[in-house]
Amino acid sequence: MNPRIPIILDMDTGIDDALAIIYALQSPTLEVLGITTCFGNGDVATTTRNTLMMVELSKHTVPVYAGARDPLVGQFIPTAEAFHGRNGLGGLTDHRPQLRAEAESAVDYLRRIIRSRPGEITLVVTGRLTNLANALNADPGLGFLIKRVVLMGGAAFVGGNVTPVSEANIWGDPEAAWVVFHSGVELVMVGLDVTMQVMIEDAQVSGMDPRRAYTPVIQEALDFYLAAYNPGQPKGHRQAPLHDPLAVAVAEDPSLCELVGYPVDIELGGTMTRGMTVVDRRSWIRNDPNVLVCQSVDRERFLREFCTRLGFPLLDPGSVGPL
Ligand code: RIB
Ligand code: CA
Repeated sequence: MNPRIPIILDMDTGIDDALAIIYALQSPTLEVLGITTCFGNGDVATTTRNTLMMVELSKHTVPVYAGARDPLVGQFIPTAEAFHGRNGLGGLTDHRPQLRAEAESAVDYLRRIIRSRPGEITLVVTGRLTNLANALNADPGLGFLIKRVVLMGGAAFVGGNVTPVSEANIWGDPEAAWVVFHSGVELVMVGLDVTMQVMIEDAQVSGMDPRRAYTPVIQEALDFYLAAYNPGQPKGHRQAPLHDPLAVAVAEDPSLCELVGYPVDIELGGTMTRGMTVVDRRSWIRNDPNVLVCQSVDRERFLREFCTRLGFPLLDPGSVGPL
């Protein structure tokens, strides 16, 4: 039997991060060593509480470490409430997990665990890259000890979601993204190019396995998420993207996506382009690739595994309604 793949999740736990936590904790091949949190889909107190809530409901034991409150430059600006609700999980129920975060900070934890297992650990980042950038700034050699960073973020050949060209996780701290993209660490970019192709639908949410402890919380959260992504659409005809679970799935099995190496940089200026992931497609320029960009995804294979693992019914591809 192959040893499990050691990973750390770094998240701004809103609704799709919550699904990603369950996907990772229920994986037969991933070993989740710890989860670090960051501002993003809420302030860091909210995203940490949501993370603890999902670990608790998944009935797993994983240490959680609170991380950055603010980006490298300026202060956290909340923008995600429309998609993740007042509390990051749809906004209706206030959750009070029993679990508590560790006393150690996210950055100290990342430095300690990565140095204790050089070359072994994959970091999956589904929020801003702030914690990793802070760790790299404090400990510049750290990047060479990380096996790979798989990030949900950016938009290589498609438009953005916060601005016409910027994706939320990069837009929320472009300076942090710049540090990571220039660090030399192996980067796999699971951007909007592929995450907007893997959708969850109403019929799956209503048909969730009622025996799982997390089902009521996830159903409430996904009802909000589906409404946010489909303004004016009636229930039964709504779809919304599984951004963050796809990043975990690619960390587990990179063959789910077609990965192509490109030089990618982060726009820090611009009047309309701050936070853009700028991909250099000029084949005649000798500029070494720094990012493996996910260009396409085996949507059906991912959705089959996602639904089976989390207790959603499988849908006939392209139709609305259970098989
Ligand atoms: O752009 C999508 C990303 O922004 C996801 O990680 C989502 O959770 C939000 O943080
Ligand atoms: Ca996220």
